[in-house]
Amino acid sequence: MKNTTVSLVLIAFLPLILNSQNKIGTGPILELYKQNCSACHGQNMEGGLGSSLIDDVWKYGSSDEDIAKVIREGVPAMGMIAWKDVLTEKQIRALIILMKEQKLLAESTGILEKVKPLGGVFSTEHHNFKLEKVTELDDILWSIAFLPDESILITQRSGKLWHLVDGKKTEITGMPKVRAVSQGGLLEVAPHPDYNKNGWIYLSFSEDVGAKIDDKPASMTAVVRGRIKNNKWVDEEEIFRAAPKFHTVKGGHYGSRFVFKDDYLFFSIGERQEGEPAQDLTLPNGKVHRLYHDGRVPEGNPFYNEPGAYKSIWSYGHRNPQGLDLHPVTGELWETEHGPRGGDELNIIRPGRNYGWPIITFGMNYNGTPWTDKTHMEGMEQPVHYWLPSIATCGIDFYEGNEFPEWKHNLLATGLSAEELQRLVIEDGKVIHIETILKKQGRVRDVASGPDGLIYVSINTRDPNHGTLYKMVPLGEPRWTSLFNGRDLSGWEVRDGTSTVLVDDGAMVAYHQGTSGHTYLTTKKTFSDFILELDVKVVGDLNSGILLRGVSNPRFRNGKVHGYQMEIDQSERQWTGGIYEEMGRGWLYSLEGKDDARKAYRPSDWNHYRIEAIGEHFRIWVNGVPTLNMADKKTTEGVIGFQIHNLPKGGGGGAVHIRNVRIVSEKAGDQIQGISIPEVEIEEASRVGDA
Ligand code: HEC
Repeated sequence: MKNTTVSLVLIAFLPLILNSQNKIGTGPILELYKQNCSACHGQNMEGGLGSSLIDDVWKYGSSDEDIAKVIREGVPAMGMIAWKDVLTEKQIRALIILMKEQKLLAESTGILEKVKPLGGVFSTEHHNFKLEKVTELDDILWSIAFLPDESILITQRSGKLWHLVDGKKTEITGMPKVRAVSQGGLLEVAPHPDYNKNGWIYLSFSEDVGAKIDDKPASMTAVVRGRIKNNKWVDEEEIFRAAPKFHTVKGGHYGSRFVFKDDYLFFSIGERQEGEPAQDLTLPNGKVHRLYHDGRVPEGNPFYNEPGAYKSIWSYGHRNPQGLDLHPVTGELWETEHGPRGGDELNIIRPGRNYGWPIITFGMNYNGTPWTDKTHMEGMEQPVHYWLPSIATCGIDFYEGNEFPEWKHNLLATGLSAEELQRLVIEDGKVIHIETILKKQGRVRDVASGPDGLIYVSINTRDPNHGTLYKMVPLGEPRWTSLFNGRDLSGWEVRDGTSTVLVDDGAMVAYHQGTSGHTYLTTKKTFSDFILELDVKVVGDLNSGILLRGVSNPRFRNGKVHGYQMEIDQSERQWTGGIYEEMGRGWLYSLEGKDDARKAYRPSDWNHYRIEAIGEHFRIWVNGVPTLNMADKKTTEGVIGFQIHNLPKGGGGGAVHIRNVRIVSEKAGDQIQGISIPEVEIEEASRVGDA
C-alpha cells in the first residue's frame, strides 16, 4: 500500500517542459531503444509483439535487477532476445532509467492538471492556498532567511544582499566580491542562531581569488560571516576559504547550503562538475563540511586525524548538495543532492559516510548516455529516496509552522527543471508519501517556513533571469450549510409536473408520476458559485439529473425550469456525471469514450456527488472519480434541483432518493479540489436553443 502511494505520486516528478539539460526521451539512449527494442515493444514502449514496458506489469519481476536480467538473458522461448553480447551493462542500466521515465511521462498529465490553480487557488490533499508576492528581482533569488524580528534577507545571485522589512527592500552595500558566472554568485544566507546577541550573518558564494588553471580563471565556494550596520556589510570574518590550488575552472556545483546545530556550522560544497574529487578526501569538493561557528575545525570531525585529509569533511561522495535541513524531531541532518538524470537524491547525512558519487548513482548523463550500471556498493550509502525523473532538487525545509497543520514536519523539496515544490511525508526515516503542491509556476530554488507559519518560496525564470519571493497563504476551512433538514421540504419546492415528493427516513423521495412532463424539486434560493455534495439513489428505468443554476423565464416554455443538468444515467451507456442542457443545447459534456468516468456510477444504489460551479468552471466527481471538467459562460446563477422524469407511455416508473445535501456558497472558489482531467471549453458556437 505504502509503496503504491509512493509510486503513484512519483508521476508528479515529471518535468514536462524541460530545460535543455534534462529532456525526457531524448539522447543516444532513446536511439538505442529505437534501434534495438522498438520493433517489438513499440515506439513509445506501449507494447506490440513484445509486452508493454510502461504498464507496470512485470512478468519477470519489477526490481531494476530483475528487469536487467531479462534484458541481459532474454526469454528466447517467448521471442525476447538476449542482449548481453550486444549491450553493455551501462547501456542496460540506462535503458531501465529510460523505461521508468517513459512510464511516468505516459501518466503525468493527470498530476499536471490537478495542481493547476483555478482563480489563483491551489488545491492540495489537505490545504488550499494562494501565492502572494512578497518581492521580486531582475535576477535569480537564491536564498531566503528570516531574522528574529521577522524581517527577511534574500540573496540575489549576481552579488546583492537585500533586507526586506514589511515588504520594502533595502540593498546592503559593501558586500564581498563574488564570481557570478554560470551557477556561481552570492548563494546562501543565514543568521547565527544567537543573532540577537551577536548580530552575525553567514554568507556563501563563489569566489575568484586570482587562481588560474591553463590561464582560465578558477573559483571555489567560500563562507564568511559579517554584520549589517546601517544597511552596510561590516566586520567580515573568514569561515571557510579553500587554498587557490583547490579552485577549479568549472562554473557549477558549488553546493552552499548552511545548517547550524549546537556549536557547529554544516555546509555543503558540490564536486565542481569534476566527478572523482567527490571521493578524494584530500579535496574539499563533493563534501558536507563541519566547522565551529567561528570557522575552527572541530577535532571530533571524522577525518581530523587522517593524514592528508581535508579536516573539515563530515561526509563525502556528493554531487551537488543544494538542500540541507535538520529533521525537527530527530535532529538528523537531511540533504538533497542535485544528481544526474534520474539520480537526484535525498540523504540522511552521517559522519564519515560515503554517499557514492560518482561511483554509484541511480541516474545517467543528462544527454542520455549511460554513466554507470552501479547503484549499490559495499561501504557506500543508499539514498532515502531518489527522484526519477529528476526534478533538479535544490533547497529543502522541514515545515514547522502551524498555518498548514496537516503538513507539520513534512519535508518541502524544491525542483528547478521540474518547476515543482513537493511535500514528502517521512516516517521512521522513510518517505511514505509524496505530493506535488506547486507545478509549472517557475523554477523553485528555495523554500523556508516563516516565523508567521507561512511558507516562503523563491520562484525563478530564466531568459531573462527573474526571481520572485512568494508566500503561500492557506485558505480557510469550507463552511458547509445543509440544504435539507432531514425532516421536511423547507427551502424546497415542487415545480412544473405532477410527481409527489415525500420525506422518508431522512431522505427526500420523489416518485415518477404522470406522462405530461418532468417535475422538478428545486431550492427556493438561487446560487451562483458553489460546491455541492450529496448522495442520490435512483431506482427504476428512468434517468434523472441534478439541476445546476436552473432558471425559468415566463416567456420561455411557460416558465419551465431548465438549464445545466448533471445527468444521472441508469442506462447501459452510463453517462452519469456528464452535463446535459435541458431545453437548450443538449449534451455539453458527455462521457462518451471516458471509461474510467463511466465506471464510477453504481446503478440503483446510493452514489456520492461532488459538484463545483465556480464562475464558468464546472467540475464533477462521482464517488470520488472525476467525471467532468468543463467551462461554459452561459448561466451564472440559478436554483439547484432534481429532475423527476415523466413516465414513458408504456409505463415503468421509479423514484429518486436524496440525502446529505450540503453546500459551500461563501468563498466557494477557495475550496476547490484539484481535478486530474483537463478542462473542456464549450464553444460559443455550440450555444443554440433558448434565449
Ligand atoms: C524480437 C522482438 C523483441 C525485441 C527486439 C525486444 N524484445 Fe523485449 N520482449 C519481447 C517479448 C515477446 C517479450 C515477452 C516475453 C514473455 O512474455 O515471456 C519481451 C519481454 C521483455 C521484458 C520483460 C517484460 C516483463 O513483463 O517482465 C523486458 C524488460 C524487455 N523485453 C526489454 C527489452 C529491451 C530493453 C529491448 C531492446 C534492447 C527488447 N526487449 C527487445 C520481444 C522483444
